[in-house]
Amino acid sequence: MNSYKLLLLPGDGIGPEVMAEVEKMLARLTEMGVARFETERGLVGGAAYDAHGQAISESDMALAMAADAVLFGAVGGPKWDGVPYEVRPEAGLLRLRKDLALFANLRPAICYPALAEASSLKREIVEGLDIMIVRELTGGVYFGEPKQIIDLGNGQKRGIDTQVYDTYEIERIGRVAFELARKRRNKVTSSEKRNVMKSGVLWHETIVALHRRDYADVTLEHQLADSLAMQLVRWPKQFDVIVTDNLFGDMLSDIAAMLTGSLGMLPSASLGEVDKATDKRRALYEPVHGSAPDIAGKGMANPIAMIGSLAMCLRYSFGLGDAADAVDAAISATLAAGLRTADIKSDAREAISTSAMGDAIIARLKA
Ligand code: IPM
Ligand code: MN
Repeated sequence: MNSYKLLLLPGDGIGPEVMAEVEKMLARLTEMGVARFETERGLVGGAAYDAHGQAISESDMALAMAADAVLFGAVGGPKWDGVPYEVRPEAGLLRLRKDLALFANLRPAICYPALAEASSLKREIVEGLDIMIVRELTGGVYFGEPKQIIDLGNGQKRGIDTQVYDTYEIERIGRVAFELARKRRNKVTSSEKRNVMKSGVLWHETIVALHRRDYADVTLEHQLADSLAMQLVRWPKQFDVIVTDNLFGDMLSDIAAMLTGSLGMLPSASLGEVDKATDKRRALYEPVHGSAPDIAGKGMANPIAMIGSLAMCLRYSFGLGDAADAVDAAISATLAAGLRTADIKSDAREAISTSAMGDAIIARLKA
């Protein structure tokens, strides 16, 4: 039986509650003989700040570097609103992304048939939806320098962020998108704002050249990011793979999440480059949703995005595609059976708790 080392970083808010369901699932998968999962736990976000004044400690960073994969819950909350910018909860997540070089963020948005009612859009618009947003994750305005607020000395200040992309960053995320499309419906939509941004002009010409050179068999379309946002709510089924930069990807994936019924449904994978020598890649898996401080500790959170993130980990980090399919099928069967947490409840039926949802999914897991 293969053995894998996982670092669990539950974080803040509902993070620990949804991570608890993943731990139950890991125990079950081990029992079923899928693989052996060794888990270690670390602190990130506000939890790490409270413990040692940093958004993630050096020792937890070292654990993340050494793990086969990292499972991440959520960070942030009003409790840490006043902490210095450098150690705010989000800084822990951004450091993990940057230092582990997790440049490719895969955010699949799938609308389960049973959930079409939970979406705020009409059934025919979202039913059967299956799109993949590929978001660049280690560049752009999130990390560009200078990034500062300067005092102009005349009673005015100036806030500066820098949107910057080099050719290689655009090329490598483009490759991820084209490769994924080949295994899906063979279509990529690339998105930027080349009508106002130089980085958008470079993004567009780099993707066009890469397509011509290596991926001419894939259908390629381009859409300005604002127009893509509109198309995502107008007729999302026109898309297969969407590739875009860090900031646009952040916003567009929140829209895509709501198409599926709830932000509580969307998993994600953040992947590094494959190491040619070991054939391995660094990876972190996290739900797209945040820490939801308003419902934290109440046992109300939907664990599906977190469990779905574990399924992505099985698929992309461990090559356990069958086990990943089994987890996804168990989620689907649980929803088809009518079980709902509060966020996806669309009629009068009782909402079930986080742990009841986790148990229901585990109970439907087939060998
Ligand atoms: C996300 C989140 C993060 C981001 C925050 C928590 C820094 O919104 O993963 O989408 O902006 O990337
Ligand atoms: Mn986001």
